[in-house]
Amino acid sequence: DPKLQSIDVSQLQIQKSTTPKDVMPHDQLVFGRTFTDHMLSIEWTAGDGWLAPRITPYQNLSLDPATCALHYAFEAFEGMKAYKDRNGDVRLFRPDMNMKRLNKSVSRIALPTFDGDAFIDLLKRFCKIEERFIPSARGYSLYIRPNMIGTQRTLGVGPPGSALLYVIASPVGPYYPTGFKAISLEATTYAIRAWPGGVGASKLGANYAPCIVPQMQAATRGFHQNLWLFPGVDERTGQQEDFVTEVGTMNLFACIRSPQGKPELVTAPLDGTILEGVVRDSILALARERLVPEGWTVSERPFTMRELTEASSEGRLMEVFGSGTAAVVSPVRNIGYQGKIIECGLPPDKEVGEVTLRMLDWITGIQYGDETHEWSVKV
Ligand code: COI
Repeated sequence: DPKLQSIDVSQLQIQKSTTPKDVMPHDQLVFGRTFTDHMLSIEWTAGDGWLAPRITPYQNLSLDPATCALHYAFEAFEGMKAYKDRNGDVRLFRPDMNMKRLNKSVSRIALPTFDGDAFIDLLKRFCKIEERFIPSARGYSLYIRPNMIGTQRTLGVGPPGSALLYVIASPVGPYYPTGFKAISLEATTYAIRAWPGGVGASKLGANYAPCIVPQMQAATRGFHQNLWLFPGVDERTGQQEDFVTEVGTMNLFACIRSPQGKPELVTAPLDGTILEGVVRDSILALARERLVPEGWTVSERPFTMRELTEASSEGRLMEVFGSGTAAVVSPVRNIGYQGKIIECGLPPDKEVGEVTLRMLDWITGIQYGDETHEWSVKV
């Protein structure tokens, strides 16, 4: 894309850490709490574009207190993972999708675009340097967090004249403290995550902080996450409904059997309020390839809490699961809604349903290189 601003990979400067950290045993990892030895940084100015990329020891940033990111939320990020395959090779999963999405996110908030292919080259160099931190146990990986901030020193609200794109990495296991267990969602009716015409589809930090107070309130009632709804009129019935959107930390899928007995995998359409998940897209593609021949319908369509409630009470809600880079494929046990609990098809003694598990196996099989697939990119 000629509009993307170039990064000169040949200018990469590498300064290795002289105080290597210990690698923590994978079963002691808490999501996003420990970091590798190094970080990758590239500064940008409106006059000079992207400057020489640098890999340096992991260190604090030095920012002027007036830095625009700290005042007006000029910040966008990505979530990606590096996996170690059984030969010990390192793999990324669909990194081109993350580059496209980050370019889309930063463009929305007047931050500079960048050449995604050049950035993937740098990420590969970075992953090689941090290779010893990548856990090889299944379900574990190196979480990679590219982050772009506006660094202009000004209290004036305008396009930042300088920016910083940097990457840190954290060895991780499951995202939720419950481990590989089914979670409970509270369908939130008093707060809205994203609006039509808003920025819900962009991966901006500003989409996340406002979700924490509702999450804390849901936690007091025993729920792990919120399920974000959007109220609207169902065109098919003319009735006011709560439409299911996403979880904030993941997209949401439901497996619903129709009254006629036909199974459907459904998720909300990308209408601008839904984060355009890489795993979401992968699940849809795999479902179209592998579930449709078994008689499934795969739908990106608006669906409502009424539909889930009715399907659950009639025994037709087969499974519900979330998808995300951090969350991978996470089974959902139940959803609290208007003071009632909607059971999502999981027997009490089970943590994951059959379709959810198959999807998890397909996705992780590709991510860890067990299945040869163009989505898995060797470092
Ligand atoms: C991811 O899945 O990578 C995300 O960015 C979600 C975040 C809650 C960790």
